[in-house]
Amino acid sequence: MSNPENTKTQSFYITTPIYYVNARPHLGHAYSTIVCDAIARSKRAQGIATWFLTGTDEHGQKIERSAAQAGRSPAEFAAAISGEFRSLWQRLGLTNDDFIRTTEDRHKRGVQKLFTVLRDKGFIYKGSYTGQYCVSDELYVDAPPGSPCPDCGRPTETVSEENYFFKLSAFEGKLIEYYEAHPEFIQPEARRNEVMAFVRGGLKDLSVSRTSFTWGIPVPGDEKHVIYVWMDALANYITALGYGSDDPAEQKRFERFWPADIHLIGKEISRFHCVYWPAFLMAAGLPLPRSVVANGWLLFDKSKMSKSVGNIVRAETVVEVLGADALRYFLLREISFGHDGNFTFEALVQRYNGDLANGYGNLVSRVVAMMHRYFAGVVPPAIAPLEAGEPEQGICAAAETTITAFRAQFDAMDFSRSLETLWSLVATVDGYLTASAPWKKPTERSEDEHAQLQARVLATAAEAIRITTALAWPILPESTAKVWRQLGLGAIDQAAESGELKSLAWGGLKAGTQCNAPAALFPRAEKDAIERMQNLENQNNLTAVAAVSGAETTAPAAAAEAPAPTPAPTPAPTQVAEATPAPSLAVTQNPQIGIEDFAKVELRVAQILVAERVPKADKLLRLEVDLGYEKRQILAGIAQFYEPEKLIGRKVVIVANLAPRKLRGLESNGMVVAASVGDEGAPVLAGFLEDVPLGARLK
Ligand code: MSP
Repeated sequence: MSNPENTKTQSFYITTPIYYVNARPHLGHAYSTIVCDAIARSKRAQGIATWFLTGTDEHGQKIERSAAQAGRSPAEFAAAISGEFRSLWQRLGLTNDDFIRTTEDRHKRGVQKLFTVLRDKGFIYKGSYTGQYCVSDELYVDAPPGSPCPDCGRPTETVSEENYFFKLSAFEGKLIEYYEAHPEFIQPEARRNEVMAFVRGGLKDLSVSRTSFTWGIPVPGDEKHVIYVWMDALANYITALGYGSDDPAEQKRFERFWPADIHLIGKEISRFHCVYWPAFLMAAGLPLPRSVVANGWLLFDKSKMSKSVGNIVRAETVVEVLGADALRYFLLREISFGHDGNFTFEALVQRYNGDLANGYGNLVSRVVAMMHRYFAGVVPPAIAPLEAGEPEQGICAAAETTITAFRAQFDAMDFSRSLETLWSLVATVDGYLTASAPWKKPTERSEDEHAQLQARVLATAAEAIRITTALAWPILPESTAKVWRQLGLGAIDQAAESGELKSLAWGGLKAGTQCNAPAALFPRAEKDAIERMQNLENQNNLTAVAAVSGAETTAPAAAAEAPAPTPAPTPAPTQVAEATPAPSLAVTQNPQIGIEDFAKVELRVAQILVAERVPKADKLLRLEVDLGYEKRQILAGIAQFYEPEKLIGRKVVIVANLAPRKLRGLESNGMVVAASVGDEGAPVLAGFLEDVPLGARLK
């Protein structure tokens, strides 16, 4: 099946993934959305009609369960979290043209149309299926009953259903053919290789409906089925444009902007976007997106920032302390796009002070202030024709090279390098200013000559700032708007729209332009900035646990009883908080106990947030676990049996009321429960097949 000829000219359509509403937005979500925003702005500045879409993915069992856990209806719960995404995007100055919610009628209509078209064309049929389902990934996995999900390690559930199936197996060859003919379709290369290997490994038909829950879009004509959440979600890219609508204006928009130029996604959802989605589109006879580009993960404390790991940082925290532009700049400059990158408050503040406060911000305020001091704020008529060898000619040449290099690197999505290029122009202009020292008149220089030098230097520096500012607008919309105004150029958003930022030939800042008063751009971040951000996060973690996990603001009943921290009696389960796992005990060795004795042991569900080896203790792991209502540190003697990285995110059972004790100088606050297996007493951690809320008590 070929990609029907694309007829659109000079239009550009970019999308973010639509975000699940089971968790509040964090920096990981903000990252993908900010990247799209910067690209969308840059296209608009080039005069290209652009459509930028984002939204929320609100159906499925995961959302249904999160809502139940929070004691709210799925619709209410989804609306609340979706609202948070929407208002955060506004706060970050994002210019999405639309925000789709999969619970909207326009979406439902489009998804049902897609399903019907595929069924009518014979690509969807009814069959029955029993398999292991991973609720977290919303995916059937190839694994025996009782085993964890091979992708995310969480427990799977055995699900047996009569389902509708999509004939994915029929698209194996067509997909490979397509990938080969369009090497730019999957980017970067590493993802393309992964996807191709997956498809070459063989494709089975895909179950595209569920009957085990109801929170979804009904299958047209067979309403006890809801449409598979990934088919529902992927379709947002066309339903938001108007696919399935009867309104001619919407149909026109669909024709104008589809196919998408870029679906920007996180790398973990490549398979859905590069295998299922193109297969659905081929089957429906619709054109395929031009590219699916995967960004790497934003890591915090060395693991993927995510709600389930519990290591999230909110964008609001950074915005509150350093501003939205600081966050945008940092994410694009610091992370090599396509790769994983670390987020730390230290690196953020360092970049902010180095590049923004002392770099660009300082250059602008020096130049604008001098323009006011020496020329009453009016750009002087100073740029005499440049001659070879004059320093001004060097600045002009540097600016022109920068324009070309920056654009090429930015368009190639090498954002970090493009900003490095642009900031080296800032450094060059800074050096030129310092070397020309327009604020200092040597005695041998006449007043006239000095005024001419001041005019030339300030006009040159201001022109270089104008160019830098125009190029930086997609990344720093708020601060470049201030600079544009200070240079007397009006509103930069309008300049972007009118095409003024497109042709950036040297000499665009005209003599006689009246500059506005200098205003602070990036006040230097003081030492306490990091601490302030950390405090904001800590405060938020407490309230977020209460609001989203369903725990009320008071601790759960059992915890509220505050039992005296009595040491547990001889533990029945193996105590793995110690360096050596105890050998397995024959049950008969223990005297019988009454229920009141058992009740003294407070067993609770906790999730491992951090797991690392303890230096010089080869059996010990240091764990940080989340009980939903509090976090704590536990030392467990399982290092010889479990890789710490594999434990992160895993739910375990802990003895929560064990008296604290010190091991290797570190306090252990509780004990992880495990079965003790074989002669060696190898620990096997206790877990659950169903999803269980944090803090739930075992009794
Ligand atoms: N709802 C699906 C996507 C459906 S698209 C048709 C989904 N949602 S999600 O909320 O779990 O994640 C969506 C996206 O958020 C990721 O693909 C990625 O773009 C972004 N990120 C979430 N956490 C992230 C990081 N820690 N780092 C980088 N991006 C991250 O999957």
